[in-house]
Amino acid sequence: MKTKARLLILFLSVSAICVFWGKVSRYVSPEKQRSCACDQCLFENDTLAFQRLRKFPQPFLSKNSNLSEEDFNWWRVIQSGGGTISEYRGNVSRVFQLIPANPPLEEPVPGRCRTCAVVGNSRNLLKSHYGPLIDFQDYVIRINRGISKGFEADVGNRTTHQVMYLESRSQLDNTTRPVLFTFKMRDLGWITSVLSPQPSGKKSLFNKDLVMVVNPAFMRNIHHVWLKKKGAYASTGFMALVLALHICDEVHVFGFGADSDGNWSHYWEKIPNKKVKTGGHPGNAEYEMIMALAKHQVLKFYTGW
Ligand code: C5P
Repeated sequence: MKTKARLLILFLSVSAICVFWGKVSRYVSPEKQRSCACDQCLFENDTLAFQRLRKFPQPFLSKNSNLSEEDFNWWRVIQSGGGTISEYRGNVSRVFQLIPANPPLEEPVPGRCRTCAVVGNSRNLLKSHYGPLIDFQDYVIRINRGISKGFEADVGNRTTHQVMYLESRSQLDNTTRPVLFTFKMRDLGWITSVLSPQPSGKKSLFNKDLVMVVNPAFMRNIHHVWLKKKGAYASTGFMALVLALHICDEVHVFGFGADSDGNWSHYWEKIPNKKVKTGGHPGNAEYEMIMALAKHQVLKFYTGW
């Protein structure tokens, strides 16, 4: 009888401790609330501590953005576009008569894990069979003339965002978000003209309600902070990757890496010019930075074939 009573007391005590512990562990203090539902969330805590990983407040322009003289003076010379800051402001306000006042972005939600595939244009994608893995991510971000048709097994076939600049523009479908870079004043005029009503029968290049324009201050921040002013300015691909770190909770990177001659050759064409290298961009510094981000588990890098 004594033993039975002792066992009962022991059982009741253990149950009480379990119930109490369950309640305690379910309580999460406000400062420990997760910003996303991934295993690790970018910008969340020290587990991803990385010197340059600071969220830039406005990666995209909005109607009320105000570019500083310093940022403008950097931007106006990168492609020798010239112009004055008041011309710039006039051009930007004409763009915002045509696109939403704020970029159409999905904000982080504690219960969600927004994953991104950033797909560069490297030939290392050929024979990689990454297509299904790329398409599996929530956002598939392609760059410039990056295409799917004919390469689906290696590059996938979904495109949620196409990051591009004037010279690499292409016709997008109605659901793809155009992410537009400007490098000179003329590019702002280009955006206004492609988004203005087209002559009857001519299809618009983009769905203007989905357009996002990258903030020149963000481009300068990448050049100065991420790449320590190496090269003329960052490549569109590298800037797309840093953008992905801002709009996603988990980032997967494909199709980055020069060929054995050091050229940024493309998966859809033969190398046109052996001396193309990485243009005016700091290709080595960018690649080293991507490797460092992968090492610190800020992103997942796929080397290709
Ligand atoms: O050549 P393009 O600029 O259209 O390619 C998109 C981006 O993909 C580049 O800006 C570069 O960052 C990356 N790229 C690369 N290796 C290649 C080709 C492109 O890292 N062989």
